[in-house]
Amino acid sequence: MRFLAFMGGLAILVAIGAAVFFFGGFYDVAARDKDPAAVAWALGRIRDAAVIRSAENLRAPDNFEDSAQTIAGARAFAARGCANCHGAPGVKWAKFSEGLNPDPPDLKESAGELTARQIFWTIRNGLRMTAMPSFGAIGASDGEIWSIAAFVKHLPTVTEENYRQWTASAPVATAPPPATAAPEPTAAAPAKP
Ligand code: HEC
Repeated sequence: MRFLAFMGGLAILVAIGAAVFFFGGFYDVAARDKDPAAVAWALGRIRDAAVIRSAENLRAPDNFEDSAQTIAGARAFAARGCANCHGAPGVKWAKFSEGLNPDPPDLKESAGELTARQIFWTIRNGLRMTAMPSFGAIGASDGEIWSIAAFVKHLPTVTEENYRQWTASAPVATAPPPATAAPEPTAAAPAKP
């Protein structure tokens, strides 16, 4: 009985301590400093598990492998401003993205680590408590997002020249989103992955 009272008292003290720490302004929310390694590890594992589970029942459209999809995806990637944070072939990310915490990853590497469905899910839904926005929430259609996923999957083989040609007439990031119909490809088709 005494032991239980002791544990109860301890739990109340811990709760009060935590409340003072978090609500009293002692928890550091600055993006400038990296998370402690254990926190970063846990958040990364939680994110990966959630993306894997959420994406497992998605189905890519039948024309997902078409080169026209990849080219439309490149244009949407440029128009939606992804390159500001992630960069693109021959395009350097905006300076501000170096101040984001966590860092926006190099999508060439993500292309090998994530399935197309996981990439689609991430673009459509975003990642909470990171700078990765939900493009579904701002009205990008699933068709547009699948095309962006196709482009991201192809990224390791997209040259600077390909990207420049495919996005030559894409609207700038601040313009309204492109019409739903993907423009006809005008330049060399990408290699199949
Ligand atoms: C404002 C900056 C920002 C913009 C704009 C942005 N992203 Fe991200 N993105 C991030 C950050 C930060 C992460 C990493 C989050 C994390 O570590 O959990 C991320 C993660 C991702 C991932 C997961 C990568 C991986 O290896 O887990 C993909 C895929 C992705 N972004 C694609 C895109 C695409 C495509 C666009 C444009 C449609 C886009 N992002 C726009 C910041 C951004």
